[in-house]
Amino acid sequence: PSIDTVISLHDFETVARLVIPEKAWAYYSSASDDEITIRENRMAYQRVWFRPRILRDVSTVDWSTTILGQKSTLPVYISATALGKLGHPDGELCLTRAAANTGVIQMVATLASCSFDEIVDAAKPGQPLFLQLYVNRDREITRKYVQHAEKRGVKGLFITVDAPQLGRREKDMRMKQVGDEGVAEVQRGQKVKKDEGVARAISSFIDPSLSWKDIPWFKSITKMPIILKGIGTAEDAILAYEAGVQGIVLSNHGGRQLDTARSGLEVLVEVTAALRARGYLPNPNFEIYVDGGVRRASDVLKALALGAKAVGVGRPFLYAFCAYGQEGVEKAIQIFRDEFEMNMRLLGARSIDEIVPEMVDASALTSH
Ligand code: FNR
Repeated sequence: PSIDTVISLHDFETVARLVIPEKAWAYYSSASDDEITIRENRMAYQRVWFRPRILRDVSTVDWSTTILGQKSTLPVYISATALGKLGHPDGELCLTRAAANTGVIQMVATLASCSFDEIVDAAKPGQPLFLQLYVNRDREITRKYVQHAEKRGVKGLFITVDAPQLGRREKDMRMKQVGDEGVAEVQRGQKVKKDEGVARAISSFIDPSLSWKDIPWFKSITKMPIILKGIGTAEDAILAYEAGVQGIVLSNHGGRQLDTARSGLEVLVEVTAALRARGYLPNPNFEIYVDGGVRRASDVLKALALGAKAVGVGRPFLYAFCAYGQEGVEKAIQIFRDEFEMNMRLLGARSIDEIVPEMVDASALTSH
């Protein structure tokens, strides 16, 4: 179908499913066990209602912001998704080039199909990039990787903390044999288990011994801001804050890890309350992000009203480039822009600062 037929982020999923190999679809779309959490990620947004304000002269509205001090034209960043070449020959470079043209920030995955340097080389001078980190059992490999990323100008290190073992994604496991395209660039030349689906093939090197004790070590090897990706409770948000990191992503990994874990949006409410109660918020040097199930600008506005600085979006951008390459990602960002303009006008918020907690009714969010 022509790209002109696409009018919402959901449409990219429909088209991607038609055009990508079955194995890619199984790996990208799958979530763990009974796929309850992936469904809940969407449902949670539907339990939050708007309280719009009127008569505020909304002729001009501005949805640009900063993320970790970096300018972003949207309060949205492209979250890391592994193995882009399963679905498109240019893989993650589609994201990098589209991000360059649109002023959006890409979080590069450790397990990308393209090499880290290839991605950085494809970026425009000065284009901010974040890096998602899977921590290797061999910390020397991780140290070199992190320090190389810092040298190449990466603006934020997102350490994934919700994946000491990858979840059982049965749709993916049923595909069994994995070909060469199911191996990430950083794994080239290593022994990889290839008969239990793509997720198992790429996960062999992740270190399950990672713990809070390792955070000072990360701080000692890099000056990049450190963000913990995959926080799911107020308890851990407090520990993260006290560990002195610059931010957290409230995330369940797109429903791909612990099934029946709550949505990031629901977790956000308890996290902001707990951090405020301790006097930790507001703090301009500590940012909270949410990801999982964000498909509309209205979803983003809800997360912002409840205290998020920005949100991460995974599958929609992935499906956009699988379907239409770089152009697809640019179109996805254009759709977000159009939706932000309309929703902010209807909500009565002229800038991100004007999106306040009073603009949402989240009383049904935690009753389900
Ligand atoms: C992911 N995600 C992910 N996260 C991470 O920290 N490292 C990774 O390598 C990957 N890989 C990955 C692959 C695929 C195919 C998906 C769908 C997701 C999780 C991702 O960063 C993000 O948390 C979720 O995708 C957000 O949910 P939505 O937007 O996909 O609903």
